[in-house]
Amino acid sequence: MTAMVEIEGLRKAYPGGFEALKGVTLSIEEGEILALLGPNGAGKTTLISTICGITLPTSGTIRVGGHDTITDYRAARALIGLVPQEIHLEPFQTVINAVRFSRGLFGKPRNEALIEDILRKLSLWDKRDAKTIELSGGMKRRVLIAKALAHEPRVLFLDEPTAGVDVELRKGMWDTVAALKSQGVTIILTTHYIEEAEAIADRIGVINKGDLLLVEDKATLMHRMGQKELRIDLQEPLASVPDGLSDYALRLEDGGRALVYAYDTQAERTGIARLIARLSELGVVLRDVHTRQNSLEDIFIGLVQAGEDAA
Ligand SMILES: Nc1ncnc2c1ncn2[C@@H]1O[C@H](COP(=O)(O)OP(=O)(O)OP(=O)(O)O)[C@@H](O)[C@H]1O
Ligand SMILES: [Mg+2]
Repeated sequence: MTAMVEIEGLRKAYPGGFEALKGVTLSIEEGEILALLGPNGAGKTTLISTICGITLPTSGTIRVGGHDTITDYRAARALIGLVPQEIHLEPFQTVINAVRFSRGLFGKPRNEALIEDILRKLSLWDKRDAKTIELSGGMKRRVLIAKALAHEPRVLFLDEPTAGVDVELRKGMWDTVAALKSQGVTIILTTHYIEEAEAIADRIGVINKGDLLLVEDKATLMHRMGQKELRIDLQEPLASVPDGLSDYALRLEDGGRALVYAYDTQAERTGIARLIARLSELGVVLRDVHTRQNSLEDIFIGLVQAGEDAA
């Protein structure tokens, strides 16, 4: 595997001194889909803008396809397609001309079959002769995507591509992203929809206040999510976990009134039935039991919250 995007020690301070990126190091493999999650103001758009050369880094290096984005800007930029978060379109240009123009800007020869294919896949073919001012918000966002695809980028940045896009079209967009990946395109997207990251990403990055808090394979995160907790409320509080239960990973909570057992839902045997039987043998009386499943959302909120507490 080769790295398509390599970011080292990237810092960005805006004029006035605000540090939006505090030393980000990240490598993205060719053909990979990376989803960046983070609250408003975390630095997602700043990171993307800096990689795309729209914003200059304060320090650190970025290479795209091996080209330094400052010293070798044109070569790096030629590989990049960008769907910005803010919608800017020429109001009186037609959809198809906007997309053709975007291809021309990159010095690529005309390719009407490709333009048609892109417009059809994004459900914009029927709107090809409409002026962009006549489109709905979700349609405008799809025009931005069509423009970014028109010059056949090797790396595609999607900054909140499905904000304001309806559920059905959002799913269609995921299919488009999957098809691009199968052609070897590297994709970096930001989203506030955790289920979107779950549906399409290979790796998930969490950013908050300019720090990249985690970058992990989705499969690893999913495995963590496979952890479930069984909480057993007890009739009488216990001073400690009874000796006869040492082969379970149990902890006491709530002043000894609850026993919590974390188990793997993917394991062949969870051991719950045996645990309940053992408790009864030991004379421990149960009042209630509940289970709780960790989700990517819990992991995300936990990370962001830990950052808040540390601050
Ligand atoms: N041009 C600018 N000048 C000064 N500060 C800026 C500028 N652009 C962004 N910032 C600040 O940098 C921080 C990161 O902003 P950024 O747009 O990267 O966040 P984001 O993660 O994309 O958020 P959102 O989810 O709201 O899009 C914010 O505190 C923002 O106010
Ligand atoms: Mg943003």
